Amino acid sequence: MTLKVDGDRLEKALREMGEVGAAPSGGVSRLALSDADREARDLLVSWFRELDLEVKVDLIGNIFATRRGRENSEPVMMGSHIDTVKDAGIFDGALGVLGALETMRALDDADVETVRPVTAAVFTNEEGARFQPDMMGSMVYAGELGVEEAYASSDDDGVTVKQELDRIGYRGDDSLMPSCYLELHVEQGPVLHSTRHRIGVVEGVQGIAWWHGCYLGQANHAGTTPLELRRDALLGASDLNVRLRSLAEEMGEASVATMGRLSPSPDVINVVPGRADFTLDFRQYALRLFTEGKSRVEALVQEVAERHKLVWSLRQSADAQPVRFDTAMVDLVESKARELGLSNMRMPSGAGHDAQFISHVCPTAMIFVPSIDGRSHCPEELTSFIDCENGANMLLECVQQLAGCRL
Ligand code: GLV
Ligand code: MN
Ligand code: MN
Repeated sequence: MTLKVDGDRLEKALREMGEVGAAPSGGVSRLALSDADREARDLLVSWFRELDLEVKVDLIGNIFATRRGRENSEPVMMGSHIDTVKDAGIFDGALGVLGALETMRALDDADVETVRPVTAAVFTNEEGARFQPDMMGSMVYAGELGVEEAYASSDDDGVTVKQELDRIGYRGDDSLMPSCYLELHVEQGPVLHSTRHRIGVVEGVQGIAWWHGCYLGQANHAGTTPLELRRDALLGASDLNVRLRSLAEEMGEASVATMGRLSPSPDVINVVPGRADFTLDFRQYALRLFTEGKSRVEALVQEVAERHKLVWSLRQSADAQPVRFDTAMVDLVESKARELGLSNMRMPSGAGHDAQFISHVCPTAMIFVPSIDGRSHCPEELTSFIDCENGANMLLECVQQLAGCRL
C-alpha cells in the first residue's frame, strides 16, 4: 500500500499558520521571538500535542516533536522554521514544518509503526531578519555558535534573544540528536518554475556572508557646502552599492551581493548626510570563490571610504560556509521523486536553510518545490498547493524508508 498525505489538510494548516502575524501588506510578518512567533509556536505545539507527540524545547528555543518508534533510537528528523522576514509569504519555512506535521498525521491515519522514531523540528530564528546571525537555532544546535553568544544578540531596539526567549516562554533545556535530517522548502528562486520541474533535488547550499557597516563623514548644509568640500556618507554608501554589484558581476559563477539596508543620518532633506549605516550580503556556492569574494567585499568597503574621505567600520554578522549534502540522502530524494513520477532536477540552494548547519550533525538533504515566478521574501510568494502536497508526499516516502516502516 502506498501512503499519501492529505493535501487539503496541509493547505488548511498552511493557510491557518499564514494568518498568524498577517501584515497589512497582505503578507505575513512573524519576526523571530515576537508575539506572532510565540502565537505560531503555541499553535504548532497544540497540533503536535493532538498527535500525542513528545514535545521538547532546547536552550535556544528549537522545538522537537517526536512520534515514537518501535525502537528507542535516534529519530529521523524533518523540519524547518516558522519565523519570517518582514512582509513575507506564507510558505517559506512553514511548508517544511507543516509538511513534517502532515507526514506524521498521514502515518497516524494509516496506523503505521516505524522502527525509528520520527521528529518534526522547528528551528529558532532562521531568517536573521531581527537578530543576527541567521540560522541561529540550527547553528547553536550544531555547536557552531555558543548559546551565550546567541543569547546576547540584540535587535534594533537593543532587546536580546535571551530576553525574548524568556518573555515568550520558549527557553528550554532539552536536547535531541537525530539519525538524519530532511527539509522540505519552497525553492524561493525561478529555476524549477521556469524549467517546469516539480521537484528540486537539492545538492547543497551556497555560502552566506553578512556584514553591518557604517560610513562616517560630516553633516553639513546642503545649500552652502561646495561639492568638493563634502564628506557625504550616503554618497559613499551609494557608490559602494553600485561597485558591489559590479564586483559580483566581475566574479561571475552566480555570485550575488546585496545592500539590503541603508540608513542615512540625520536623514533630512537639506543636510549632507554625515552618517550611513548599511548591511551587506554576499553569496557563492564554490568555497574558493566564497572566500575570495568575502575578502574583496571587505577591501571594497575600505577603498570606497577612502575615495569619499569617510571613516569606516565593518562587523561581520554571519558567515555560513557553503555545504554539499550527503550523497546517499540526495540519491534517496532523487529516487523517490522518480518513483512518484515527479519531474525533477538536481540543484544548489541560493537561500540559506537550517539544513546548512544540520548537515554538520547528521546526513542531510533537502526537497524543493517550485516558487511561482521565483518570488519569495515578499507577500507575492506563491507555491501551488499541489506542489506543496507533492513535496509532503516526498517527505512521507523518504521518511518511511529512513525510519523503517511496517504497515
Ligand atoms: C534566508 O532565507 C536567507 O537566505 O537569507
Ligand atoms: Mn526558509
Ligand atoms: Mn527566508
